[in-house]
This record gives sequence, structure tokens and C-alpha cells, in this order.
Amino acid sequence: MEEEIRALKIRKNAIVMAHNYQPMAIQALADVVGDSLELAVKAKEAEADLIVTCGVRFMAETAKILNPERKVIMPVKDAGCPLADFLTPDLIREARRRYPDAAVVVYVNSTAESKALADITCTSANAVRVVRSLPNDTILFGPDANLAAYVRREVPEKTIIPVPPGGHCYVHTGFTLTDLETARKMGGLVVCHPECPPEVQERADQIVSTGGMVRNAAGADEPWSVFTEREMAARLRALYPGRVFYEKPEAVCADMKKTSPADLLLALEREEEEVVLPPRVMGRARRAIERMIAVGA
Ligand code: 13P
Ligand code: SF4
Repeated sequence: MEEEIRALKIRKNAIVMAHNYQPMAIQALADVVGDSLELAVKAKEAEADLIVTCGVRFMAETAKILNPERKVIMPVKDAGCPLADFLTPDLIREARRRYPDAAVVVYVNSTAESKALADITCTSANAVRVVRSLPNDTILFGPDANLAAYVRREVPEKTIIPVPPGGHCYVHTGFTLTDLETARKMGGLVVCHPECPPEVQERADQIVSTGGMVRNAAGADEPWSVFTEREMAARLRALYPGRVFYEKPEAVCADMKKTSPADLLLALEREEEEVVLPPRVMGRARRAIERMIAVGA
């Protein structure tokens, strides 16, 4: 199957992009593996005829929005992100009415329709930088309330209002102070994703995006307890053999695990499921995402 996939990639001039949480078997077949920001930047630059996004829907939509001339497909059409579903266009419109002077920052873990209503998007890698780049004192920030809390701590001079108040990722809110205590007993550093609850963030040694974990691990040698989706620890172990990365076995994003090599093969053969979005939504969302890319990581 691996050989067939590699041959099809060449024959169809396809590029396969995979998120850091994808099963290792998919990561091994991908041309690019990264965090949400890295995948968005690579998708924008891609010159392939076919872009295959292995991850969840918002990642494939972002690729299409940034490179609308290319055919973008996702192997499993119902791989979604429950966090993204917390934010609706109506919630954004209502928040704008209540806070007319505020800027709207929408996390990339969101639908294309929500991005289209944003002033700018952000990822976990650049949320602080994006918020600091804005002239507004009040920021409407959604859908992840824990990432909003992280930004609030880093940028105390601004008022950060989470929209909705309780938007969260079930994988990351599964990390508790008990996990932290266990990790401390194991020794080494606790490195957490900013989608983890604030009380966990406050006690962690580092708070970084998944791409930040890859970069920071390069310069470290102590064991790490990796407080994010389980596959991240497997990726770090593969990148840095001989190092110790502890994972939480229950921290599984079910949607990230929907894509198998067999799905990838079928997707390449059939060129399905194609991402199709209304041009108006794409145009508006593109403005918000490109503004984010211009701010940088
Ligand atoms: P990163 O942008 O850090 O890869 O995070 C994406 C994500 O879905 C976290 O749950
Ligand atoms: Fe969405 Fe959470 Fe899965 Fe990330 S880990 S894709 S935020 S459900």
C-alpha cells in the first residue's frame, strides 16, 4: 500500500500534508508534517495539482482557502473538530453588536464561515503575537476559552473576551492537576498545549503549540511529559530517538484517528473528498488568514 501511495503521489503531482496528531503511519507517508500554522503556510505555497490534507476539516478548509486554484481533498470527510463547532457566525455577530469597538480574533480551529467574520485568525503558535498586533483594547476571542486565558495572561493590557465563554477541546480539558502531580513524580519537564485548562498551564514548565514542542525539544535532554494529544509524544520520540517523552494514553482525538493509510490510498485514487466552499466565504476568510500569516509566528 505504501508503494502505491508513493507512486500515486508522483503520478498525480500530489502533496500530502499531515498534522502532528495524525497516526504515525500517515505521518510516515506525508510530505509535510506540522502544526496548524505550518500546514497553512505550506498549503499556501504548494504548487502541487492535488493537496491531500490528513487532519481534520478546518485544516483542509484552510488549505483550500489559501490556495483556491488547487484541488484540495481530505481522505475522511467526517473528520471534524468538536472545538470548532463551539463557535457559530451568530455568536460572532452578537458579540460584535455588544462590543462594537472590539477586534474579532478567531482561532483556526473554526469553520470557514466563522473565519469569514473574523478580523484576523490565529493559531496556538501565534495567538499572543496576533493579539498584540491589534490596536484594539478589547478582543473577542473564540472558540477556545483556555487559549483565550493564556493570551489574557500574556497580554494583560488588553481585555480578552472568550466567545463563547466555555469553548474547549475535550482532549485538552482532560488534563488535570492529578495528571500534573503524576508527571512531577516521573521527573523532567511538563510541556503543555495552550488548550489545556488554565490551572494546568500555570503549573507547566512550557506552554507551546505542537510545532513549538518539536522545536523546543531539539534543544533539551530531560524527559518530557507531553500534555496534548497522545500522538505528539510518538512524533517527538520518532524525531529524537533515545529521548524520553511521556504521554497520557487516554488523550486521544478521535477525529484525528479516523484517517488510515487505506483511506489515504483511496483518496488519492478517487481524488475525494474535495473541499468546496462558497467563493464569498473563501474570500473573506482568506483576508483574515493572510493577515495572520503576515503577523508571523
Ligand atoms: P496546533 O496548532 O498546536 O498544532 O494545535 C492544533 C490542535 O488542534 C490542537 O488541538
Ligand atoms: Fe480539535 Fe481537540 Fe482534536 Fe485539536 S485535539 S483537532 S482541538 S478536538
